[in-house]
Amino acid sequence: MNQRDTLKVNNEGILEIGGIPADVLVKDYGTPLYVIDQTHVENMCKTFVDALNNNQINGMICYASKAFCNKYIYEVINKYNLGADVVSIGELYTALKANFPANKLIFHGNNKLEEEINFALDNKIKYFVIDSYYELELLDKLCQEKEYVQDVLIRVNPGVEAHTHHYIQTAKTDSKFGFSLDNGDCDLFIKRVKDCKNVNLVGLHCHIGSQIFESKSFEIAVDKMTDYYKKCNDEFNVKFSVLDVGGGFGIYYSHPDPKMTYNDYTNYVDVICNTLKRKVQQLNIQMPYLILEPGRSIIGEAGITLYKVGSVKSIKDVKNYIAIDGGMFDNPRFALYQAKYSVVAATKMNDVCTTKYSIAGKCCESGDLIAENVELPNMQSGDLVAVLSTGAYNYSMASNYNRNLIPAVVSVKNGVSRIVVKKQTLEDLIKNDV
Ligand SMILES: Cc1ncc(COP(=O)(O)O)c(C=O)c1O
Repeated sequence: MNQRDTLKVNNEGILEIGGIPADVLVKDYGTPLYVIDQTHVENMCKTFVDALNNNQINGMICYASKAFCNKYIYEVINKYNLGADVVSIGELYTALKANFPANKLIFHGNNKLEEEINFALDNKIKYFVIDSYYELELLDKLCQEKEYVQDVLIRVNPGVEAHTHHYIQTAKTDSKFGFSLDNGDCDLFIKRVKDCKNVNLVGLHCHIGSQIFESKSFEIAVDKMTDYYKKCNDEFNVKFSVLDVGGGFGIYYSHPDPKMTYNDYTNYVDVICNTLKRKVQQLNIQMPYLILEPGRSIIGEAGITLYKVGSVKSIKDVKNYIAIDGGMFDNPRFALYQAKYSVVAATKMNDVCTTKYSIAGKCCESGDLIAENVELPNMQSGDLVAVLSTGAYNYSMASNYNRNLIPAVVSVKNGVSRIVVKKQTLEDLIKNDV
């Protein structure tokens, strides 16, 4: 576990989040329960914003809404002056309903719908990140109808693909997103964008991957992107002013991920900024407005999901299962791509771990697991299990599979808890059934 002041084990051997023991949270709100350690979210926001400011580069930290999206998170990030990126009308609507300033919103997505484009235009968001010829033509047409000119970035594939522990550079990127630099696709697209009277091309965007621990990957991406930025200014006679290098900073889920500290995130930003400063000097260009889009790193480790153990099953010489009252409907990431999590016995934190368990969800799918071969103390029905680092891509990926109810989200800070998203009700499940 990546311990911090707001995530620790108390004297009774109980996991304490934001000053509140897990069993108290469960008594007050039930299980399954998404718990958000707000202090950690705020510290992450401050870390990124301060790092950018300390580098004296004009820019914006844009939270990637897809990681965890509800009115609560927009209220928190707004207090720390972050922007946000959205990828659907739903995320955009949620942000606006939370009074998030539209001029700090960036719209991503490889197939934005006409309804979505219209909604974003009507609300005067800051940038569209254009991802296809189809979108360009549609956006240009809709802008023309509204007699409006929209600032846009282009989504670029810089040919740098970063993975958890290494990076690779590929000559040609196969991706459903964006335009490749290396095969000339992006050059052609820029020429086309320039013909459109109702979009104003202001810069470039890339996102090189997720769960990236090596800052070298970002250095390479910034290097390539800045070279291309300069080339565009010179050869295509555009006046770029914005460079957005996406998100993807890694977090600690379980061994062998590095245990990340706030300094590690400052270091990512420093590497990006230092590379950019070096390139700006070398290429003799104006410093771009820099955008970073962290999602997982802001909310991931702040989230902990609490479950109650139901059945305990031992298959002699094969496996021990504990079944929890949640599963792939609140956290589909193991079922989707075998994501690994740290799992702890929330009320037996000081007990000796004696047994390996697989943590089974309650959905009717053999693949509905949360983790395998987790070492825990002897577990019994009624015990509490905490799955750590579930803040990102859990609540936002939750579903009603098997007509399970999406759990409540509770925020904790300085020993005070409050519901920020209510648990769904049975009535919610059928309210759209005709
Ligand atoms: C365009 C873009 N920006 C930012 C992010 C956020 O990435 P992460 O949550 O890994 O920081 C993503 C994630 O897929 C993305 O596609």
